[in-house]
Amino acid sequence: MKRPVAYVAGTGRGIPERVMTNHDFAALGLDTNHEWIFERTGIVQRHIASDAETTCWMAAKAARQAMSRAGVGPGEIDAIVLSTATPDRLLPSTAVDLQAELGATRAAAFDVSAACSGWIYGMTVAEGLMQSGVVETALVVGAEKMSAIVDWRDRSTCVLFGDGAGAAVLKRARPNSSRGILSTFMRSDGTLAELLWRPSGGATIPFSERVLQDRSSFVRMAGRETFKHAVRSMSEACDRALDGAKLRAEDIDILIPHQANVRIIEATAKYASVPMDKVYVNVDRYGNTSSASIPIALDEAMESGRVTEGTTALCVAFGAGFTWGSMVIRF
Ligand code: COA
Repeated sequence: MKRPVAYVAGTGRGIPERVMTNHDFAALGLDTNHEWIFERTGIVQRHIASDAETTCWMAAKAARQAMSRAGVGPGEIDAIVLSTATPDRLLPSTAVDLQAELGATRAAAFDVSAACSGWIYGMTVAEGLMQSGVVETALVVGAEKMSAIVDWRDRSTCVLFGDGAGAAVLKRARPNSSRGILSTFMRSDGTLAELLWRPSGGATIPFSERVLQDRSSFVRMAGRETFKHAVRSMSEACDRALDGAKLRAEDIDILIPHQANVRIIEATAKYASVPMDKVYVNVDRYGNTSSASIPIALDEAMESGRVTEGTTALCVAFGAGFTWGSMVIRF
């Protein structure tokens, strides 16, 4: 097993206050109900951000908590890597807003765009910056305001997503320590981009009256196909991260999968031979918060004592792109 380069020194989460239950969709005039949503996804409720609860606001809340738990001040952060599919604006990045908000005056700051796999991608990038010697301390945040990009008239997508942020402070591992990131794995397949995407609103088809009318700047998804690819790719990613860390499924204390759908989570756990009592599930309370889902789950698992010193965790993600990835972390 390789000596870890980076370890997780602290985690945090930033969750908007307002809760929207499955029953609340009726008030929007949508032809859906709690039973349909719960049976197919396991989702009961999600948090929906107010106008003031921006992507940066949620990110800052998560970051401050992670920094306080890690005992790291803003001036000690060398890099801020923020994964988001919902930046507060397109230029410049939301990461620089976070840098300003935290007063992290020494930090390089940039966004990573890898949809729901973004936090795993971001952690891997931060680990690489440490490996290169450029960075000693990094803040890796997944922050998403999915409510801003879903089509609230499309019952097949808007019921699935929620808002929130999760963060981790990464520090350089101590020499000879076995604590830290033991393996990482990332893949993508852009030939499948149109199965989960926002067709308009970018540089090719900019916002226009027509885009607003045909609602093509909102998220569109082929649910069934996405489901199949998610299970297949997350299963592959579990194998690859375990291989990389030279571990077997029974060595894993906790599986923290991307929280999109409890049926995807169950299928992935079954494939990975990890029993469900070792799997962290909170999709019932948050819905799919895209790249925020794993760091939110990790933070809850640490707070509740399910992740403590010595715990070996397998994190696995899948998202638009398609992108997927995984990581074994020893705490
Ligand atoms: N309430 C009620 N009915 C709904 C509905 C809703 N919110 N959304 C869709 N339906 C209807 C459809 O219109 C369809 O009706 P029809 O048969 O009359 O055309 C029917 O339910 C079945 O739709 P289908 O898409 O085949 O259902 P499904 O069993 O595949 O479940 C998903 C749909 C979205 C829950 C499921 O495909 C899924 O979870 N996919 C993965 C999504 C995901 O996690 N993406 C993110 C990955 S990061």
